Amino acid sequence: MATFHEVTASLVCASGTIAVQIALRGLNLPEGSEVILAAYDFPGNFRAIQDSGLFPVLVDINPHTWCLDVENIEAALTAKTSAVIVSHLHGGIADMPAIRELADRQSIAIVEDACQAPGARLGGQRLGTFGDVGVLSFGGSKLLTAGRGGAILTKRADVLQRAKIFCERGNHAFPLSELQAAVLLPQLKRLDDRNQARLRSTLRLKERLAPWDDHLSPITLRAGSEPAFYKHAWLAESERIAKLLFSKADAIGLPLAMGFRGFSKRPNTQARKVGTLHGAENAASRTLILHHPLLLHEPAAVDWTASWISRELEVCVDRGIDSDR
Ligand SMILES: Cc1ncc(COP(=O)(O)O)c(C=O)c1O
Repeated sequence: MATFHEVTASLVCASGTIAVQIALRGLNLPEGSEVILAAYDFPGNFRAIQDSGLFPVLVDINPHTWCLDVENIEAALTAKTSAVIVSHLHGGIADMPAIRELADRQSIAIVEDACQAPGARLGGQRLGTFGDVGVLSFGGSKLLTAGRGGAILTKRADVLQRAKIFCERGNHAFPLSELQAAVLLPQLKRLDDRNQARLRSTLRLKERLAPWDDHLSPITLRAGSEPAFYKHAWLAESERIAKLLFSKADAIGLPLAMGFRGFSKRPNTQARKVGTLHGAENAASRTLILHHPLLLHEPAAVDWTASWISRELEVCVDRGIDSDR
C-alpha cells in the first residue's frame, strides 16, 4: 500500500472509520483543540473528532466539487485550530496543493480522507498522500474491498509510531487480517485500469445528460486530475426531484442513492459553524449518487441509464415538478 502510494509508511486497520480516528490520534493534537471539517461529509468523521477529545468546526463545501475550498478553511482558522479533515467525495477532488500550502503556513495538520477515491491522482500524485495522514477504506462497497478494512498513509515517523501504539493495544486492537490483505493485493494491480474505465463511463454519462444540466448538475472534475468514482454525484435542481428520482430508481433496482445527511443541523454545543452552510445544506437534501459497479458495465448499460434519467427528468418537467414550491 505504501509503495503504490509512494509514501514511506502505511498501517492497515479494521475500517476507514477507525482509520480516521487512528489518524487523529497519531497526530497527537492538543486536547480540546478545533478540527475543521466539511458540513457535508461521512458521518463517522464528525464522531472521530469527538471521540478523539477534539472539537468539530463546520465549514461549507464547494457545490460543484462536494469538497472543501481553501478559502473556507482559512476563514475558520483560530488560535485553537489544530487540524483539518479534507475528504474527496463522490468523484470530486479538493485543491490539495493550495490546502497543503495553507496548512504549512498556519502550522495545522491535514487528515486527507481518500476512502472514496483510492488510486485517484492530482498532478500525478496519489490522493491520500498530500495530507500529514491519508485515510483509505476497504469496506464492502468500496473500489478496493476486503469486506471491511482500512489504512492510513503517512510520511511522518512520529505519526506512524503513535498510530501503531493506538492501533495495536491488546484489547483495543483494530487489525486487518492477512486473509483480507491477500484479497486486496490483486485489486491494487487493477485499480488504475478500472479507475480509467469508470472515468470513461462517467464522461459518457455526462455527455448524454448534458441537455439536463440545469435540472441535474454533474460534479465538476478538477483540471489535472485522474479521478476515481466510488460514487458519481449530481446536484438535483430541487429536493423533490432528487427524492422522486431516487424512489423511482430504487423501484427498478438502479443504484442511484441520496447523499450524506450532513452536519449543518448539529447543535452549536456540538460544533462551531463558520459562515453560511448553504452548499452543504443543498448537498444534504439534493445530492444523487450513482454507485460505481454500473460504471464498469458495457457502454450500452451506461446509455440505458442516461436515457432512463432523461426520461424521468422529462416527466418531472412536464408535470411542473421542477421546484420545491
Ligand atoms: C468519505 C468516507 N470516509 C470514511 C468512510 C468510512 O469507511 P468504512 O466504511 O471503511 O468505515 C467512508 C465510508 O463510506 C467514506 O465514504
